[in-house]
Amino acid sequence: MGTASVGVAARRLGPTLRRAPLEPAHEYAGPEDVAGSGADVSQLTLSLFGHDGAVPRVAGHLASETGRWSLVRADAVEAMRGLRDGSVDVIFADPPYFLSNGGSTCRGGARVSVDKGAWDQSKGLEADHRFNVGWLEEAQRVLSPSGSIWVSGTHHVIFSVGFAMQGLGFKVLNQVTWEKPNPPPNLGRRTLTHSTETLIWAAKGLKSRYRFNYAELRAANGGKQQKDVWRFTAPLKAERAHGRHPTQKPVVLLDMVLRASCGPGALVLDPFCGSGTTGVAALRLGHRFLGVDLDEEHLETARRRLEEVSR
Ligand SMILES: C[S@@+](CC[C@H](N)C(=O)[O-])C[C@H]1O[C@@H](n2cnc3c(N)ncnc32)[C@H](O)[C@@H]1O
Repeated sequence: MGTASVGVAARRLGPTLRRAPLEPAHEYAGPEDVAGSGADVSQLTLSLFGHDGAVPRVAGHLASETGRWSLVRADAVEAMRGLRDGSVDVIFADPPYFLSNGGSTCRGGARVSVDKGAWDQSKGLEADHRFNVGWLEEAQRVLSPSGSIWVSGTHHVIFSVGFAMQGLGFKVLNQVTWEKPNPPPNLGRRTLTHSTETLIWAAKGLKSRYRFNYAELRAANGGKQQKDVWRFTAPLKAERAHGRHPTQKPVVLLDMVLRASCGPGALVLDPFCGSGTTGVAALRLGHRFLGVDLDEEHLETARRRLEEVSR
């Protein structure tokens, strides 16, 4: 990438996003230069600032001084288009659920709107499915040959995600149920209380070899094989100390995901990173993290959380 395109990108950074040093320490030489090598994540992020004078794709970039994490303000698909084939070891994605359509839920005993933001509104069944196919296609391309992807969702979106994955030729490895022991009560009383979310774990292709840290998970589970039902409470208050995200995941959930599938010093991508939970878990485990989100406020929350973990 030329210095000129970096300069154009820098001028377009969002007003409140802190500018990271954009000059690469050495020439970026492709995925082999970063994936699994322990190299600076901002080297990889630089590739998002446009190639050969092309229009930059990102609106902002926050990066750690250690080079172990980067946060990019951009559309998930646009951001992934800027990454090289096979450059990422593990992806965790918690995409829009498309459930913010006028319903209500219960918080602290009171009925509150379920709306999480414009980003979570459905554009219709077919458009929502096309969106899932689009981002999953890019995710598959950027995954390393032995990489794997986890996608979380509720019934509003997970069937579309699963169907899209099957169509794209991912190899589905597990369907994990995350059970919440203390779900909000179902005020409408017309269905069962919603107390689970689903995670689909998949390898890049039908014949892919993939990493599974079987022995580590079994040891952590008292010598018993780890099952595909995980019981974790919603994020604790302390996890929201840097800002509240409407669909924040608990760090323990991401800890389990990454312990299962990452090799040492893995590069972890979350294309819908929200408050940066995936990054918190990744950094604690000694991995590197690249997070993408459209929302500046959520990225600021993520930055504060990642800086705290990096101290
Ligand atoms: C379900 S939330 C992720 C929450 C996250 N797992 C956490 O623990 O905080 C989905 C996120 O995707 C972001 N988003 C929605 N559409 C997007 C898009 N097209 N590209 C990038 N981010 C997007 C939203 O701003 C939101 O923060």
